[in-house]
Order: sequence, then C-alpha cells, then structure tokens
Amino acid sequence: MSNQYAGDGSLRPPSAQGHRQSACPCSSSAESGSNECHCFYFSLFLIFLMLLPFMIYYLNQPRTPDFDLDRVDVEYFRIAPNEVGGAGGTASPSAVYLWLNITLRFTSVNNDWAKLSYEATNICVLYHGAPLGKAVVPGFQQPRYSTRPVDSRVIVSRFNMLQVDSPELVRDASVNDGVELRVTANTTWKITGRPTDDITDDQVHVSCFVVFSPRNLSLALKNCDGAGKIF
Ligand SMILES: *[C@@H]1O[C@H](CO)[C@@H](O)[C@H](O)[C@H]1NC(C)=O
Ligand SMILES: *[C@@H]1O[C@H](CO)[C@@H](O)[C@H](O)[C@H]1NC(C)=O
Ligand SMILES: *[C@@H]1O[C@H](CO)[C@@H](O)[C@H](O)[C@H]1NC(C)=O
Repeated sequence: MSNQYAGDGSLRPPSAQGHRQSACPCSSSAESGSNECHCFYFSLFLIFLMLLPFMIYYLNQPRTPDFDLDRVDVEYFRIAPNEVGGAGGTASPSAVYLWLNITLRFTSVNNDWAKLSYEATNICVLYHGAPLGKAVVPGFQQPRYSTRPVDSRVIVSRFNMLQVDSPELVRDASVNDGVELRVTANTTWKITGRPTDDITDDQVHVSCFVVFSPRNLSLALKNCDGAGKIF
C-alpha cells in the first residue's frame, strides 16, 4: 500500500512540473496558466502599446462644432397691394409687396480644446423657395470650449411677391395666420492651434423651417431637422 502510494506520488509530480515549466514561457499549450506567470499582463501591455498611436490619433481628432439656428424674432411683417400707383406702371393690380424685419440668432459651440475659426456665414431667408433677403456675418474666431451667439438681421423692403406665390402668401397671412419661411446658413469652420498640421476645414449647412404668426409676430414652429416640409 505504502509502495503504491509512494509510486503514485512520485509519478505524478514530475508530470505536473513538466507542464508547469512549459506553461511559463508563453507556450500556447498551457491554457491553465499559473498565477506566477505574467504573460497575460504582458500581452495586455503589448496590445496597449499597439493601440497607443490610434488613441493619440483619436484624441487629436478635431471635434466638430455645433452650429444651429437658436432664435428667430420677427419684428416687422407687412404685406400690401401695390399702393403707389405711379411708381411702377408695369405692375399689375394684383401685385403684392412684402416687408419683413427678422432677427436670426445662430449659436456656435466649440467642443474642441483648440481654437475654432469660422469664415463668413451666408444667411438666406426664403419663401416657397424664392430668396426674400440675405445677410452675411463676417468670419470670427472662437475660444476653446465656448459658446458664442452669431446674430444677424434680414430686412426685406417692398419685395415684389409676383415672382413668388402671392395669393398663397395673402391666404397664409390673413386666413391661416401662419407664414412659413425657410432659413439657410452656410459657413466653413476650421480648428487651429493644434500641434499637428492636420487642420480640418469643413462646411456647415443649416436649413430650418420656421412658421410665425403675422398677427402677433410670435414664432409657432422652428424645425431644423432638415427633413421638414418640402416646398
Ligand atoms: C425694419 O427695418 C427698417 C430698415 O432698417 C427700419 O427702418 C424699421 O424701423 C424696422 N422696423 C422694425 C419694427 O424694427
Ligand atoms: C447653402 O448651400 C446650399 C447647398 O450648397 C445652397 O442650396 C444654399 O443656397 C446656400 N445658402 C446660402 C445662404 O448661401
Ligand atoms: C399669437 O397668436 C397665436 C394665434 O394667432 C396664439 O396661438 C398665440 O398664443 C399668440 N401668442 C402670443 C404670445 O400672444
């Protein structure tokens, strides 16, 4: 009994030791790796080293700023038939003229740790696809992680609605008490002051539908999703 036991004991340990020795130098046969072997952590470190350039690249990627239409204030709106008889002899009696003062506040949010710079912003107000008026906001620079209002004003004076859909505008204004306008804005931004020369230069297109009440000049709807109504 004692011999057999000793024989068992002497047979087993060498085989186990052999497995252990082959497990330590990262051999693939040792799946049940022992605790004293740090191969696992070493491979993790290697993977980390391999990923490091990608992580640095990712952290260095410029963060896209947010540029959106924030506020719309209609200060003045009037439509009137061709009152001044002698001014345009060619104007038909059904001509309708439009006056509109509208203040548009866009907001730019710089999400990046570097400075942001914008080129001039071109803003346009359209009715049924026809441009009523335009405004240009000069380019500017914006500090890192900051929010900045971009204010503009579009003034339309005696716009001849013959080019557009004047009966519809009259109906929108007087019966429906809701006039729908489209506001578009285009600009180009750039992130500057990064250690790398990889400076992004990208376009912003904002397109919003707004509906306002001509009676009390309040805004009823603002939809900047881009998938709004199509004229
Ligand atoms: C609308 O704009 C015109 C031209 O700048 C200005 O004379 C007029 O006072 C403005 N009206 C309102 C209500 O802001
Ligand atoms: C903005 O760009 C779009 C597409 O390029 C164009 O249709 C639109 O007229 C532009 N708007 C302004 C205000 O420049
Ligand atoms: C403006 O008029 C519309 C209806 O024409 C009404 O629903 C809205 O509450 C009014 N807003 C204000 C601020 O008076």
